Amino acid sequence: VLAGNTNHYDGVIAAFEALDLAVVPVFASGLDCRPAINEFLVDNGSCTVDALVSLTGFSLVGGPAYNDSEAATELLRQLNVPYVSALALEFQSIDQWRAGERGLLPLETMMMVAIPELDGATGTMIYGGRDDAKGPDLQSDPERAGALAARVAAMVSLRKQSKRARKLAVVLYDFPPNSGSTGSAAYLSVFRSLFNVLRALAADGYDVEVPDSVEALRSRILEGNAATFGTPANVCARVTTDCHVAREAHLAEIEAQWGAAPGRLQTDGQSLLVLGEQFGSVFVGVQPAFGYEGDPMKLMFQQGLAPTHAFSAFYQYIRHDFDADALLHFGMHGAMEFMPGKQVGMSGDCWPERLVGSLPHVYLYAANNPSEAAIAKRRANATTVSYITPMVAKAGLYKDLQTLKDALEQLRANAAPAKCKAVLNEVQALAVQLELVASEDPLWTDPEQVAITLTAKLLELENALIPHGLHVLGETPPQLALEQMLEAAAAADGEAVLPEGVIAHIAAGASSSDVEAQRAGLGEAEQALYEKLLTMRSGLVENAEIPALLRALDAQFIAPVAGGDLIRNAEILPTGRNVHGFDPTRLPSTSAISEGHRQAHTLLESASNSVGTLPRRLAMVLWGTDNLKNEGVGIAEAMALLGTRPRFDSYGRLAGAELISLEELGRPRVDVVVTVSGIFRDLLPRQMQLLAEAACLCALADEPVAQNPIRDMALRCAQTLDVSLEVAALRVFGNDESAYGANVNMMVDNGMWQSEEELGAMFMQRRCFAYGQNGVPTPQAQLLEALLAEVDITFQNLDSLELGITTLDHYVDSLGGISRAVENARGDAVPALVGDYTQGEGAVRTLTDQVALEGRTRMLNPSWYESMLEHGYEGVHQIEAHFTNMLGWSATTSQVDPWIYSELSKTYLLDTAMRNRLAALNPLASVKMAQRMLEANERNYWSPDADTLEALRQAGDALEDQLEGVHDSLGTPSEAYA
Ligand code: BEZ
Ligand code: MG
Repeated sequence: VLAGNTNHYDGVIAAFEALDLAVVPVFASGLDCRPAINEFLVDNGSCTVDALVSLTGFSLVGGPAYNDSEAATELLRQLNVPYVSALALEFQSIDQWRAGERGLLPLETMMMVAIPELDGATGTMIYGGRDDAKGPDLQSDPERAGALAARVAAMVSLRKQSKRARKLAVVLYDFPPNSGSTGSAAYLSVFRSLFNVLRALAADGYDVEVPDSVEALRSRILEGNAATFGTPANVCARVTTDCHVAREAHLAEIEAQWGAAPGRLQTDGQSLLVLGEQFGSVFVGVQPAFGYEGDPMKLMFQQGLAPTHAFSAFYQYIRHDFDADALLHFGMHGAMEFMPGKQVGMSGDCWPERLVGSLPHVYLYAANNPSEAAIAKRRANATTVSYITPMVAKAGLYKDLQTLKDALEQLRANAAPAKCKAVLNEVQALAVQLELVASEDPLWTDPEQVAITLTAKLLELENALIPHGLHVLGETPPQLALEQMLEAAAAADGEAVLPEGVIAHIAAGASSSDVEAQRAGLGEAEQALYEKLLTMRSGLVENAEIPALLRALDAQFIAPVAGGDLIRNAEILPTGRNVHGFDPTRLPSTSAISEGHRQAHTLLESASNSVGTLPRRLAMVLWGTDNLKNEGVGIAEAMALLGTRPRFDSYGRLAGAELISLEELGRPRVDVVVTVSGIFRDLLPRQMQLLAEAACLCALADEPVAQNPIRDMALRCAQTLDVSLEVAALRVFGNDESAYGANVNMMVDNGMWQSEEELGAMFMQRRCFAYGQNGVPTPQAQLLEALLAEVDITFQNLDSLELGITTLDHYVDSLGGISRAVENARGDAVPALVGDYTQGEGAVRTLTDQVALEGRTRMLNPSWYESMLEHGYEGVHQIEAHFTNMLGWSATTSQVDPWIYSELSKTYLLDTAMRNRLAALNPLASVKMAQRMLEANERNYWSPDADTLEALRQAGDALEDQLEGVHDSLGTPSEAYA
């Protein structure tokens, strides 16, 4: 302003004015924008503008120097208008950015996107930067400034519009397609939640038609005329091919990949089918499959690819035919925000922006996933509204496990040798039948030891925490679930123990006089725990989510919140806030560094037990979510294993890596081959460089190779591969820029593979890109293969209770994928280890044990599956996903014990009553369950006796007959769906 070089601001102001928005420009002379805002944008305590746009690109309080996000949030809450932080490029020219695949550079992302998000900014956009042709001053970019203005204008008009006139598009998902998963989202009971949301919208003044019941809602969306069209849901509208061709601006790109319009997916030949149903002024649509056709590996998440005709037409329909005023993605998560384009710092040519345009976008998102929430915010302009993950409870014991516990108690109580022998026999029979120990185990000669060992095993099973069912928006968790959740949180909290009955009292909503009386007798630590549980309960019963959703749809400010797990982090309550990650400039945090150090130690102990000696080389998987939630424990652990640590500058910001001397380390360094998810790469680019630097420091250290396997390997690889030592020291591998996923999970899901080797090969193909200290990936398949050929152990940490390794196919994709790639490279399998840090001190288990633990405490546990089945259709889908993941573990690691398959078959398929229940609730998913068990047999992951196999085949046939019954009544599926 003082120097008069305000071109970049002027351009933005002109863009706003072109859309008839009145602009009040305010200038902060210091680092703190509050004084300027309070002076010019607040009158008598109320905000005088309809939206606040920051063009600084930095934090609102602190600018580039520091960030007081609490103060910023406080101010923004008072203003209660949408807050958009926009930026001018600092470290590259506009042309460089436009031409690049990545978008923003790591430092720009960290300072100008991630930090403003801590204040509550969302949908951060670029509006300008340097134009080399025009000299050193910043310029606005007319296209970006126009897009920014259009977005802000849409939010302002949403604020001003009457709710009665407002049209809302709600998007549900269907993934994987054709598997009974239409209308599913992570942790969420979708139709019940949607029903509650529709009611709330009606009460809030929207012109919405609310069906009579959840069942009626589900049936109108999933059934309706689906029979006539042979589609997985009601056909609500058709976009004719002519219309699609006329208005699709990017038709050529779509046709290049998917053929001439209308393509072959979700079409009747003349038009593209829009699935869903309209309820007054609310359209509920089902997101089309994101598309594999013919070649299932031809997935979306890649440069140069395009969504299908149906996918793009769906969003065109929402914007131009239905003419929505706001868009709501209903739960975590769909495919739109993952569509091809830059990672962050979108251009108008990035598919997410092409699809959403300037439509105000609200995204219901799980409170525990800051990393994927960031993708929705940054790539698709979403304001996330968090929802809580399901309550957790102790798994408890059931059936024979309970009988065994009783028998063990008898064993302890009975001294008489004759009686003791009889009970011991019973214990042995039960324990062997339950596959807890082998019948020939030497244990059996020592009854006392038997009791101790088995009691410990049962205790682990009984106390394991498991998620309870699915979350319902707008409903308070049932009393018992609340109580169990508070108990779990109390146990996770530390030493303090509350007297019997107190937690139940808190859960029930103790009156203030009760509270006073109860608290009076408690010690200091107990009082603190008491307070914490009281606060947690009130957060859990507050039901803040739907009100927050309504406010977001009014374009009010949605306050930010760090993503986290309820059990460790009650600050995620109340939910209904805009999720962000930990401040990436400070990650790994001090506490994460010490925890990472501890975990490295625990891992090396377990790994030494598994392989007999201290391992020299590990393959470790890192995910973004975990590290953004736990402040970078996994990153710190990898660094500790290498014998390195992070350095920070005097402002506490991450500056680089340094070696710990071998003397201080007191053991040899351990080589760590890190493979990261695409999400980790996108969100933690600086930490990618940090890890690369750490490995390189090790390789360059002049130390004996016996003590330094990184150097040993780098020296050898430099020679055999004829590369520099720096290249041979690359240890951070992932997808190519802008690609996500190893696709191993996709292969497992669609079953289109012959030998397990193909799964490892796919992993190699997808994740062989090495990221060096400059942050730029290069394909290094030979190097990765050479490293994997000498890996002793593969492992990944679990951080969220809600996500077991059998819950989410991405674990199969990452840990399973790398394990199979190691087996390909070595010629034999190595142990896969799982660091389960979801509870207490945590434990490192073999994959076999972890799978068995989850099998016993979840899949085979009536309290787990009943809590899923309560949610009907979606519950069955969730159970089925576990079947597929189990098969995925067998396929990638061969470390699943066969008994799990027989027990799963018995529990779900060979039990007629259960099978009928499943079939009635979700026929497609139940058929898939039977097919998975048969596939497991065909692939030799278990070999049931002939009778069992026959019974399973019949069960599968019975389920398919029922499905055909359904299909018959639905009519013949059209060609497009065959
Ligand atoms: C991640 O946070 O890195 C991640 C999340 C979900 C699936 C895969 C990776
Ligand atoms: Mg995901």
